[in-house]
Amino acid sequence: MRINPGFLNLQDRYLFALIGQKVREYKGQHPDQDIISLGIGDVTLPLSPAVVAAMQQAAAEMGRAETFRGYGEEQGYAFLRQAICRYYAQKGVDLLQTEVFVSDGAKSDLGNILDLFAADNTVLIPEPAYPVYVDTNLMAGRKIIFLKGEAQNGFRPLPPAALHADLAYLCSPNNPTGTVYTKDELQSWVDWALRRGAVLLADSAYEAFIQDPELPTSIYQIPGAKECAIEFCSLSKTAGFTGVRCGYTVVPQALVREGVSLNGLWLRRQTTKFNGVSYIVQRGAEAALSPEGMAQNRESIAYYMENARLIASALQELGLWFTGGQNAPYIWLQCPGGMSSWEFFDFLLERCALVGTPGVGFGPSGEGYFRFTAFGRREQLLKAMERLRQLRLSSL
Ligand code: MLT
Repeated sequence: MRINPGFLNLQDRYLFALIGQKVREYKGQHPDQDIISLGIGDVTLPLSPAVVAAMQQAAAEMGRAETFRGYGEEQGYAFLRQAICRYYAQKGVDLLQTEVFVSDGAKSDLGNILDLFAADNTVLIPEPAYPVYVDTNLMAGRKIIFLKGEAQNGFRPLPPAALHADLAYLCSPNNPTGTVYTKDELQSWVDWALRRGAVLLADSAYEAFIQDPELPTSIYQIPGAKECAIEFCSLSKTAGFTGVRCGYTVVPQALVREGVSLNGLWLRRQTTKFNGVSYIVQRGAEAALSPEGMAQNRESIAYYMENARLIASALQELGLWFTGGQNAPYIWLQCPGGMSSWEFFDFLLERCALVGTPGVGFGPSGEGYFRFTAFGRREQLLKAMERLRQLRLSSL
């Protein structure tokens, strides 16, 4: 027996597990400290009334013989896939129900999709990046090329024409930097992928936070994308489903490589390895995408975006450079006084019991940067900003 050597190339812990461990240790040593976390991007507002009512009704249905359901279709119930198609139609994107696959969230699918691709494919990852892209490819033993995001390219790197890769990740709005690719920029990614025969893995988990109507909320708003892109989306942040678990992946019928339909392969993979998302959760997801649910989602998103505005204005006041926060729930700031990401993490934790995410955890280009999430409760967030002001960071 040999274990998968890819696992030996991983860092000891997943980024957010490592941060959790550090915070628990600090709490153990300072039990009286009131720690505020603006670290992991986890929602704090409760589920919307529309979602709760739908899930209660679905639970009651499961308790009656006439309406009880056993296994559902692995790729999701038709009612939810149709609701997702209607959601895309509002963005001007026509999808077939067979192109939509319901899952327990974008994170799982972003890892699982790699089953479709040969281990010797090369993967391009613009970084700083959501650590799942790197870790899952390391597990699979795949060769990774990094594309550097930096202040000079607005943390929105574009693919060099001469660069070859078989797979490439995109995340817009970006986690961790909060930046969003414009239509023209996404078009250059699509054109590059079409020229190279590459497949784009487009993570759109934060699309619902885009406020600027000129910015694209789906890769399929870009001509040619259905021939080269798979899109991953989630209700985690859109509808507060981080604890409920429901997302969806779109694999267009037009996406064919080596004469094989990737849609067909993904269906084959899912029907073999996945038994679908619970009926109750899928009814909740359907409600989240209904007109009433969408209006309620918008209220929660507006709350989080107001949090982002409050963080941004505190950072402006303190004279710290940052990006994001206008069309995304993340703010990406430069650490003050030339501190490294982990130095600033320790500094904030020790000096004011505030937790954020060190930028270097998202890749080497994140060194010297730091991420705050806007998903906190307002009163906590205001307290956190007050603590930052007290630190007089600009004089460091
Ligand atoms: C994050 O903080 O980056 C996210 O919450 C992680 C996730 O969505 O899995």
